[in-house]
Amino acid sequence: MSLAQEAHFPCCALVNLAMGRSYLPLSLFASALLGAKALVQGPWSDREVLPETRAHLLVRNMTLDEKILLLHGPPSLHPIQCTNPTRAECAYVGNVAPVPRLGIPPINMNDGPQGFRGQAGLSTAFPSGLTMAASWDVDAVQEWGEGMGTEFFEKGANVQLGPGLCVARVPQNGRNFEYLSGEDPFLGYTLVKPAVRGIQSKKVIANAKHYILNNQETNRFVVSAETDERTRFEMYYPPFEGAIEADVGSVMCGFNKINGDWSCENPVTLKHDLKEKLGFKGYVMSDWGATHSTSLMRGLDMEMPGAHSMNPELIKAGLGAGTITVAAINESVERILLPMFSVGVMDEPLSTWDFKRLQKNVTTGASVASVRHLSALSTVMLQNREGVLPLPQNKKIALIGLVSSNAIVHAGGSGSVDPSFIASPLFGISSAAGSAANVVFSNGTDINAAAAMALSAEYAIVFAGTLSTEGSDRASLSLDDGCKQCGNQTALIEAVAKANPKTIVVLSVPGAVVTPWADKVAAVLVNFMPGQEAGNAIADVLFGKVNPSGKLPLTFPNVENETQISQVQWPGLPDATKPTYSFYTEKLTVGYRYYDAHNIGFTTGFPFGHGLSYTSFEYNELKVSNLTVTFAVKNSGKVAGAEVAQLYLGFPAAAGEPLRQLKGFHKTKILAPGESENVQLTLRRRDVSIWDVNQHAWRVVDGHFNVSVGSSSRDFRLQGSFVVSGDSTKELFV
Ligand code: BGC
Repeated sequence: MSLAQEAHFPCCALVNLAMGRSYLPLSLFASALLGAKALVQGPWSDREVLPETRAHLLVRNMTLDEKILLLHGPPSLHPIQCTNPTRAECAYVGNVAPVPRLGIPPINMNDGPQGFRGQAGLSTAFPSGLTMAASWDVDAVQEWGEGMGTEFFEKGANVQLGPGLCVARVPQNGRNFEYLSGEDPFLGYTLVKPAVRGIQSKKVIANAKHYILNNQETNRFVVSAETDERTRFEMYYPPFEGAIEADVGSVMCGFNKINGDWSCENPVTLKHDLKEKLGFKGYVMSDWGATHSTSLMRGLDMEMPGAHSMNPELIKAGLGAGTITVAAINESVERILLPMFSVGVMDEPLSTWDFKRLQKNVTTGASVASVRHLSALSTVMLQNREGVLPLPQNKKIALIGLVSSNAIVHAGGSGSVDPSFIASPLFGISSAAGSAANVVFSNGTDINAAAAMALSAEYAIVFAGTLSTEGSDRASLSLDDGCKQCGNQTALIEAVAKANPKTIVVLSVPGAVVTPWADKVAAVLVNFMPGQEAGNAIADVLFGKVNPSGKLPLTFPNVENETQISQVQWPGLPDATKPTYSFYTEKLTVGYRYYDAHNIGFTTGFPFGHGLSYTSFEYNELKVSNLTVTFAVKNSGKVAGAEVAQLYLGFPAAAGEPLRQLKGFHKTKILAPGESENVQLTLRRRDVSIWDVNQHAWRVVDGHFNVSVGSSSRDFRLQGSFVVSGDSTKELFV
């Protein structure tokens, strides 16, 4: 049906009931969910018609009150108290009332980015976003998205509050573990697409968060991120662009301010950049309590979780005063309905979105198996001296530290998930070590006893870790900060390493940590926040059932504050009148870009993109032509394994770009010994462009580009170059 053919859906008695009321009564909310099996039919019901058209047709049939209803959460509740699994209007973390007469279901939103955070019924704790970033594997991330989406759907949720996408600007950021970008915008841009597609393929709308520059937890409710346009477009927007390219249905604006304006009422970042320049078609919801005004005209579409500012009284007052237009309301409602049509939410019977499904146990053998697989293939082996790993069977192994009920599987805040059960390292390793193995363990609180145990064993494995949560940044990058019950782990590792030269350290951490003891131990692995199958997954890697293929998504510094972040940059300078201001003076020099700019080598730390395998890889036959880079990766070792080949680009000096930037990567299939794979990485025009602040558009840079291909940002195996000429005069693009 074309727009010209659209017809108004006749109003019925219920409309009149709804009209003139400020809010939908709770009784209606509940009755909408009970027994309402058949889909309400209207001109918008034709599935052959484009989702945009269907959304438009539906909006045309809505009353003003019905439209406003979609712009906020339940008004009667204090925003922060809104979670009660026995009350329909407040069952999920975020709740928007249904419009039963038109068959619009409730919008049921739930955390978080690594699985369904629930109060009732079991769900699966998947690996965190940062763990998945370490996979550098688009297929794995798609599997992750599908697995989580399936559980959200089963729980009756039609919006997943994830994936988290902020670029790790500050290593101590307490939420780095949630984010799929690590410290690189291109990594985030590439990985978010399969995540969004995976979630949305299960009829659950994904939510890209937190838009934008929500890169610290210290002062998170007041800080203003002071940034320039080029930094925003080149460093921080790309992961959100990836989400938009994958048709993400919703975006969450953050708590912070940007250049002085609240994130959720910032016309520059929301209206101009997100909706106009980046072409986002879905809706913007506020973070929980991040709405400060009735900011419909400034780019916010929905207040969460309550209705303090985006409520009928204030919106109607705005309409009366001419500060809000009907067109803006229609646009916001259409944006909210669009993904509900395109993802398939609207075409499900209302009973699918019944809050009683919250009680269901949705974890399955398949999702648990997937968590094990995903966690193992995201594990990064940082060091493996003299091939101490993989472990042989039937040895005496001392497991020390966070190995049993104290095992770390996920971090805190809205990014936490209650696991259906935990496979601890003790369980996983005992199961995998062989029938004649002798596995002993100690929680490591008595360091001398732990060292004595290590001395008597053939291998010692220390499980160390630390935690973080939303609301605060980490005090330091030391293992001794952030987890009181974890003990003094630096001293523990050193004592165990002294007792046993075959000491292996496994790190479960919410971001980068310093590893000053690295040269004293034989092997180091990191699985970040590995999810509930932590123990089985790490056992798969330690015993060689899975050959590690993960790579660091962020730099592990040699020492604290190696990038010389000043208080001006983070957490920001206090201002007498608040907010504090955090100046992004480093601009593009984030993470490994800083290490390259200052020529910092790695002693006890590990570079971005680094990760070892039980086999070795050779790189050959680099060809660069017309922005296409091809080469071959050969497994030159003795066991099967996969490699993440990485392409870093050096711009012509005049462009003012960092020395090298990740612009392509590919994880090979599992290659048998001697087997090769031909890799082709195609650069976009965009990859050889910079954001032109005069033209407010991308501009291709003319000149000589260096191509470095290899196994990490500091292990290049092939070098080439190409020249771009005469392109910068061509059209600018957005
Ligand atoms: C977090 C969001 C989360 C929301 C709902 C906020 O505090 O910043 O990421 O989705 O709470 O729990």
